[in-house]
Amino acid sequence: MAAAPAIELEHVTKTFTDFTAVEDLTLAIDDGHFFALLGPSGCGKTTTLRMVGGFEEPTAGTIRLHGENVTGLKPYRRLVNTVFQSYALFPHLTVFENVAFGLRRREVSEGEVRKRVGEVLDLVQLTGRENRKPRQLSGGQQQRVAVARALVNHPRVLLLDEPLGALDLKLRKEMQIELKRIQQEVGITFVHVTHDQEEAMTMADTIAVMHQGRIERMGAPTEIYEDPRTAFVAGFLGASNLMGGTVDGDRGTIALSAGGVVYADPKHIPAGVREVLVGVRPEKVSLFLPGDETAPRNRLRGKVTDASFIGVSTHYLVHCPQVGEMAVVVQNLDDRRFSLGEDVVAAWNPDHTFGVAG
Ligand SMILES: Nc1ncnc2c1ncn2[C@@H]1O[C@H](COP(=O)(O)OP(=O)(O)OP(=O)(O)O)[C@@H](O)[C@H]1O
Ligand SMILES: [Mg+2]
Repeated sequence: MAAAPAIELEHVTKTFTDFTAVEDLTLAIDDGHFFALLGPSGCGKTTTLRMVGGFEEPTAGTIRLHGENVTGLKPYRRLVNTVFQSYALFPHLTVFENVAFGLRRREVSEGEVRKRVGEVLDLVQLTGRENRKPRQLSGGQQQRVAVARALVNHPRVLLLDEPLGALDLKLRKEMQIELKRIQQEVGITFVHVTHDQEEAMTMADTIAVMHQGRIERMGAPTEIYEDPRTAFVAGFLGASNLMGGTVDGDRGTIALSAGGVVYADPKHIPAGVREVLVGVRPEKVSLFLPGDETAPRNRLRGKVTDASFIGVSTHYLVHCPQVGEMAVVVQNLDDRRFSLGEDVVAAWNPDHTFGVAG
């Protein structure tokens, strides 16, 4: 028999007086997974995490950790630790004592405290800084102390609620890589809450995109990026060009409402609907001169209305009469540039077309 998932939510709902923050959530997270809960402010991410940690009880539904029903169990009875956004280290305690705090409260022997604190400080690369106070550390180092403080208890699951929110962009990117390394090293399950799509894609094995208390799409980052299935996911996870159209019988051809057709792989077009939005990611579109027969099969004529050179790539806006403004990102592999007002064909491969219910 396969091992039970680390976390299972079954029809979990949380209602605050008359507001439903989390609605009928069902999901399973495999042991050892790096799972990201991604969504805009107010969609219910923290509430979900707090229910897993035991800080909030569901109004309905069941929560299981490693096969054990923990619904109603106090937080300290669950093998789960949480790193909150405001990681609130004790300012008067040293790094060592901040990390040791939970062990001391549980009256773990002095030798064991030294051993375990030493191990986790090594893991988060803070060896040598044991005697500093939090204010003598950088933001990223403080964040590492917060992670060490949670890991020292040897949880089987670590919950992280926007743990990098207070850091500037550069440090944030470093800590994303760092947290991923730590997770791989300790091999326990991480559930990471963020509203930053790039952060979720950088770190996670699986992303759940949450919207208004529900999970709209869940899967590997590439899978949900390439085939987002709903307009919300298409817009929230990266940028998309979306155009209204009507599907023909076999879902391989979509007639655009404003004229013209777009071809697609039928498996990326939702079944059972006629009205759809077809989409393509900006980096999947290339620009050609009109009449260039080497252009891929999906072709829309337009005029360049904006061109921004940003080093590795150039971002174009192309006004296409059928669909309006189309965003196109071109890698700067050669010196070919298109100029403002130039007539172009924006073209892409049918395999890169996806559809969402319109
Ligand atoms: N104790 C509470 N009482 C009433 N409403 C609450 C309570 N806690 C959360 N909510 C509401 O539930 C919704 C979800 O809140 P939650 O904190 O889970 O959002 P979030 O996705 O974590 O957002 P953010 O990205 O801003 O942290 C919000 O509309 C919030 O106002
Ligand atoms: Mg939150």
